[in-house]
Amino acid sequence: MKVLVTGGAGYIGTHTLVELLGQGHEALVVDSFANSSSKALDRVRELTNGHFELAECDIRDTARLTEAVARYRPDAVIHFAGLKSVGESAKNAVDYYDVNVAGTVALLRAMEASGCGRIIFSSSATVYGEPRYLPFDEDHPLSPNNVYGQTKATAERLLTDWASQGEGRTAVLLRYFNPVGAHASGRMGEDPRGVPENLMPFLAQVAAGRREALRIWGDDYPTPDGTGIRDYIHVTDLARAHVAALDKAATAAGTLVYNLGTGRGVSVKEMLAAFERAVGRKLPAEVHPRRPGDIAESRASCDKANRELGWRAELGLDDMVRSLWAWQSANPWGYEAPPR
Ligand code: NAD
Ligand code: WQD
Repeated sequence: MKVLVTGGAGYIGTHTLVELLGQGHEALVVDSFANSSSKALDRVRELTNGHFELAECDIRDTARLTEAVARYRPDAVIHFAGLKSVGESAKNAVDYYDVNVAGTVALLRAMEASGCGRIIFSSSATVYGEPRYLPFDEDHPLSPNNVYGQTKATAERLLTDWASQGEGRTAVLLRYFNPVGAHASGRMGEDPRGVPENLMPFLAQVAAGRREALRIWGDDYPTPDGTGIRDYIHVTDLARAHVAALDKAATAAGTLVYNLGTGRGVSVKEMLAAFERAVGRKLPAEVHPRRPGDIAESRASCDKANRELGWRAELGLDDMVRSLWAWQSANPWGYEAPPR
């Protein structure tokens, strides 16, 4: 299939590209490099020898995007491009709606102009908000408690309405739980700009000597060890799910929604201990008050993805922490050279 991959230079996009090209698909990457480096795509080339095209373009630039899509004529789109920081979204709501919602509108217009009716969308478990029951299944009500999550829920609504209004339209909404880890080669991984907001990239930078200590956001949650529980999923498992979703979209119509996690909850302290085993030493960590907006526990039911996509996460906690450390220790400054 010819696949347009927006945000293909990012963390999940690069891992998905490797899987797509490995399965014989072709790709056009559209990325503005707002939160990534072209060096990440060099690593994709190195790992795949695969051929893909690149259009450096902001998805909100309707004219350029429409031209790129019309020229490429994709069979399907995987839409990763977006802004993803919960903290930043609390200060820049307009930017978050502009990129995550208006950017999706621009993309749908460009798809319509070229007759492409299939889209796989990067949504997030954060759309569920505070759990009414666990594990979260896809029917759990949506009640995001941050601006980022609102933009994802709004884009989901938009895609659902779009898919219901024309022949041959399919939207697959993938709700990722907590993606972590890196490519098995150690050549690709997460490379956040600025201070990482998420647990694993922060912890990896502590181990690499770039940050002093992990701040554990609260140890007074109603969980066995008091720290927050999440459903971490290896980025390679997540990437594989996109290939399965593409196959599904080729034969389905309307909107399909899938949780992507492992179904297993891991606490911050358990994750710290697992990562320390991978690194081979203790890492400095200190307990701080809870981070506003955090929930005690998040865990996915992935039965639907298993049943309908034939997909299930195969990699475990050890694979997540080992691959992360292989990437971070070989590339302590990510894709960039160390500062002088
Ligand atoms: P990322 O920031 O590494 O990748 C996003 C890519 O989109 C980057 O390459 C960035 O340059 C590009 N981009 C941003 N704005 C753009 C614009 N206006 N035009 C064109 N390109 C633009 O993030 P990621 O972790 O790979 O996440 C990919 C998607 O998955 C995002 O939509 C994110 O919201 C969603 N998601 C991520 C997580 C996570 O924890 N990483 C969890 C749930 C959902
Ligand atoms: C995980 C656990 C923290 C950092 C967010 C988004 C979600 C998705 C993934 C984008 C929590 C604790 C964290 C730290 C800590 N992203 N923690 N110290 O908040 O579950 O999910 O990122 O789409 O949509 O909401 O992920 O990695 O920030 O936190 O103790 O420095 O680690 O309190 O329990 P979160 P996270």
